[in-house]
Amino acid sequence: MTAIKFTARNVSDAAGAACQCAVLPVFTRKRLSRAAEQFDKASSGAIKAALTLGDFCGKSGETLMLPGAGGARRLLLVGCGDPAKFDRAAAREFCQATYAALNGTQAKDAMLHTVDLKLKDGDPKWLLAYLARHLTGAAYRYTETLTKPKPPIRLARMVVNTGGSIPVRAAQNALDQGVCTGLGINEARNLANLPGNICTPTYLAQQARKLSRGNSKLNVSVLEEKKMEELGMGSLLSVTEGSEQPAKLIVMNYKGGNSGQKPYVLVGKGITFDSGGISLKPGAKMDEMKFDMGGAASVFGTLRAITEMELPLNVVAIVAAAENMPSGRATKPGDVVTSMSGKTIEVLNTDAEGRLVLCDALTYAERFKPQAVIDIATLTGACVVALGSHATGLYANQDKLAEQLLAAGTDSHDRAWRMPLWDDYKKQLKSNFADLGNIGSPGGGSITAACFLAQFAQKYHWAHLDIAGSAWSSTPKGATGRPVALLTRYLMDRAGK
Ligand code: BES
Ligand code: MN
Ligand code: ZN
Repeated sequence: MTAIKFTARNVSDAAGAACQCAVLPVFTRKRLSRAAEQFDKASSGAIKAALTLGDFCGKSGETLMLPGAGGARRLLLVGCGDPAKFDRAAAREFCQATYAALNGTQAKDAMLHTVDLKLKDGDPKWLLAYLARHLTGAAYRYTETLTKPKPPIRLARMVVNTGGSIPVRAAQNALDQGVCTGLGINEARNLANLPGNICTPTYLAQQARKLSRGNSKLNVSVLEEKKMEELGMGSLLSVTEGSEQPAKLIVMNYKGGNSGQKPYVLVGKGITFDSGGISLKPGAKMDEMKFDMGGAASVFGTLRAITEMELPLNVVAIVAAAENMPSGRATKPGDVVTSMSGKTIEVLNTDAEGRLVLCDALTYAERFKPQAVIDIATLTGACVVALGSHATGLYANQDKLAEQLLAAGTDSHDRAWRMPLWDDYKKQLKSNFADLGNIGSPGGGSITAACFLAQFAQKYHWAHLDIAGSAWSSTPKGATGRPVALLTRYLMDRAGK
């Protein structure tokens, strides 16, 4: 995939610099940014003349393309609203509008002047990182199975002129971090968008090996079914019984920190297709269950981002990959399985398979003596009912971990909302024939699923992200790459970056 290359610069004579498109912030009430002022002079007043016509007023998200002036072949005016009210939401609109306008041109390079963009609720580094992340993400195209994919954006290079508002080194760092996060998001989207006949557990294992190639700090091992049997992962294996595709437990060990540092462990649900199994799902929208490895995809994406940033941190990523299918050999409702923890589970519904693979992965995570374990899963339709698509459901057995994740979500605009793990809900999982059932009595489906997982995560600080609503969108169909931005921000915070 081609990515836009970002370069930070400090240019005082904005109009003098050569570029195919100068991107100029303009505020309401005819207030021009410094760079826009300079281009107005270079164009003998063309910008002010355009404002006087009233077609463009500098409102947030508005854009106007003008013929070139000075060293620029084109001028793109981007509305930023009232400068005193320019906040992160306005900055996001600015980035979206800038991308949309540039995508409609043939410009191969652009120069964006940010000197007057002062965030009310953030620093210049946030703005630059968000800009690079947003444009990198917006330039993503799904191509794999299309003979005529959408054409890529022409823009190959963007120079960001901060006009000395921040040191060039710091600006470049922020841009680089944004690009890394954006590439991680795109990686997650791409994996999740792939159809289930291509993106199988075996394919995910190959992707892991590919990611580790040429990176001496990243070790990958793949546990095959035989090994999982030896470990007693009867719960995970019960999910794959009906499938022709072998399940894989993929372990990616990134050693960016000191050898003594305890790792952060990410655990991703990697159901490459969820038919529901014998508890077969209805036909409508069943295709979307190819996205049921969205948690795994976000683990891959996050790992991609942090390895590219070379974060000085130890991170273990575990992907529990399997396909959930019906067949004569498939697990049946009422079957009782024994998990790696020793707990027995009555499989009351084979469609509640995510928790069955995750519980064994969570037990396996104990061996890494983790600082914290975070699992990420498209776990329940009930979470979509509760929170819709805007918030990821967050559960945690430690308040500090919950707060850190919530803060990372707010900062990266990849938001989560905390949900309860009360014992009252746990009682809903009682079974007459096993230590617990894999579904709860009606009500609070996302919570009872989390309570199920909590029972396998008692030996460490743990959080669970239910991304059933946030990981993909149905119209238009496609993966969102969430919560890569949240997780990357969380790990950057831990690394002090
Ligand atoms: N992968 C689904 C959850 C899901 C459903 C995600 C819809 C996104 C959209 C999960 O494996 C599942 O089937 N969960 C069941 C659990 C139920 C049987 C207790 C559900 O949510 O219906
Ligand atoms: Mn299911
Ligand atoms: Zn599922």
